[in-house]
Amino acid sequence: MKAFDDAAKYLKDGMIVGLGSGSTISAFLEYIAKKINMKQIRVIPTSLQIKLKAEELGLDICDDSLIPNIDLVYDGADEIDSNLNMIKGGGGALLKEKVVMHAAKNSIILAKHDKFVEKLSRRVPIEVLPYARNYVIKSINRDIRIRMLEKGYPFITENGNIILDVDFGRIEDPYKLEREIKSIAGVMEVGIFSRSANIYYRVIDNERFEIRYR
Ligand code: A5P
Repeated sequence: MKAFDDAAKYLKDGMIVGLGSGSTISAFLEYIAKKINMKQIRVIPTSLQIKLKAEELGLDICDDSLIPNIDLVYDGADEIDSNLNMIKGGGGALLKEKVVMHAAKNSIILAKHDKFVEKLSRRVPIEVLPYARNYVIKSINRDIRIRMLEKGYPFITENGNIILDVDFGRIEDPYKLEREIKSIAGVMEVGIFSRSANIYYRVIDNERFEIRYR
C-alpha cells in the first residue's frame, strides 16, 4: 500500500506517536510493523481496540501522562470536507481522539477516497454524559438517534458515556457547529473536527493516493 509507505516516512526514532482508532489505523499499523523497525517508537492508543492491536504487534505503549509530549498522531476519519473538516466517532472513540489530536505537534489522516466530500452531511456522533442525555437532546432539537448495540442495549463509550448520532443535514459551518454543540452542558465531545490535522492522505487504491495539506 503506497499511501501507508508514504505516511510511515514521518516516523522517527524516539517519537511518541498517538494512535487513532478504527480499521484504517489498525491496517496501517499491521502493514508498517512488518516493514519498519518500531522498537524506538512509543505509542499512545485512543481506545482498547487499537491498544489490543498495538499489544499484538509488540509496540511499546506508554501512559496517558505523556499525552502532552505526542509528536505525531495517525488517525482515520468518517467524512472529510473540501476544507479538511472531519466527522469522526464512527467507532465511538472521538473523545480520546480529539484530545490526542489537539495535543499532538503534527497529525496525519488516512482515509479512503470515498470519505472525501464537498460538505459534511453524515450524522455527527456526540458523546454525552448519560445523566444529561434528555437535556442535551432537548437542547439540540434535531433528528437524534441514541447509538444502540444489536440487542437493544445502549452503546457505552470507554469513558462511560452514550453517543447521540445527530442529523444536522449539510453542514455549512463546521467550526461554528462544533463550538455550539460543545457549549451544551453534558456534552463531553463532538465528532466534528474542524481543520484539526496537518496532512490528509486520500487513498485511491493500493498504488495511488493524493495528499492534502492544511
Ligand atoms: C473512531 O471512533 C473513529 O473516529 C474512527 O477514526 C473513524 O470512524 C474511522 O474508522 P475506520 O478507519 O474504521 O473507517
